[in-house]
Amino acid sequence: MSRVSYVNGRYLPHAVASVSIEDRGYQFSDGVYEVIAVRDGNVVDLYPHLLRLDRSLHELRITKPMDHFPLGAVVREVVRRNRVGDGIVYIQVTRGVARRAHAFPKHIAPSLVVTARNLAPPSDAARSNGVRVISTPDIRWGRCDIKSISLLPNVLARQAAAEAGVYEAWLIDEDGMVTEGSASNAWIVDQAGNLVTHDLGPAILGGITRAALLDACRSAKVKLVERAFSLDEARNAREAMVSSTTAFVLPVVAIDGRSVGDGTPGPVCRKLLELYHQHLQDELGANAIGIKARRPLSKSKASA
Ligand code: PDD
Repeated sequence: MSRVSYVNGRYLPHAVASVSIEDRGYQFSDGVYEVIAVRDGNVVDLYPHLLRLDRSLHELRITKPMDHFPLGAVVREVVRRNRVGDGIVYIQVTRGVARRAHAFPKHIAPSLVVTARNLAPPSDAARSNGVRVISTPDIRWGRCDIKSISLLPNVLARQAAAEAGVYEAWLIDEDGMVTEGSASNAWIVDQAGNLVTHDLGPAILGGITRAALLDACRSAKVKLVERAFSLDEARNAREAMVSSTTAFVLPVVAIDGRSVGDGTPGPVCRKLLELYHQHLQDELGANAIGIKARRPLSKSKASA
């Protein structure tokens, strides 16, 4: 079966789907994106992802290409046409096509692309044995809260991780603090037993998985603190993990080749895996009974 992608109003064979060479995404990285998980053909956390997309568009003053309802319909249709069971949907919106000039062109329509593909969820081995990370300087810009398609520093960091044979690279700011991973949020369990992840702000992307986990942890009364933590603190932490749309939650058992805790996934991480599994079940259940419009995120999360 050949893939089908959506480009500016049309469903096209993926192999010929394209945008102009004068698309500002291509020339300036002038655009934003979302990656959304698909489980058993269901789109997970669609509404929070669409809210984050709106926020990224708003921050860059890019026109919204579509309202949530029609965009949700396109997303589901691309999933259906590609027969995605477990996988991802990718949404990209750029400012549009115009003769190359840095300042915003007037009166152009945004470009919207939606693709989807099958992708295996994290392996049982990764979930039960954990993954390893390296650290690398965070050389990104000052607005990492915007899910911009300008990902060169993230690409370089993930390449360094690949070359080191590990899952992820944790990004370290000038003060020695861990901001997040190249494509995931970073978590530790500190020496006091608190679950810790960087607070929201321009230094990190407010992950949708992060928000779902925080919600679940609050309900389950897991002790948690949103604050920055240093690389040193992470190396001496009891436990560590990463979260993202594609990783869900994974235990981190080594940082820069040194074991975290006893080098095996700990109890808090196992709890997070369980809570996230429950969240996925709830999402599938909500889709099954036709609850399409999920409740809005609280203000703090919508501004993530
Ligand atoms: N990345 N931080 C960064 C820099 C990210 O790129 C991502 C997601 C996250 C986690 O966010 P979420 O839980 O909403 O996926 C954090 C996606 C998966 C990607 O670029 O492929």
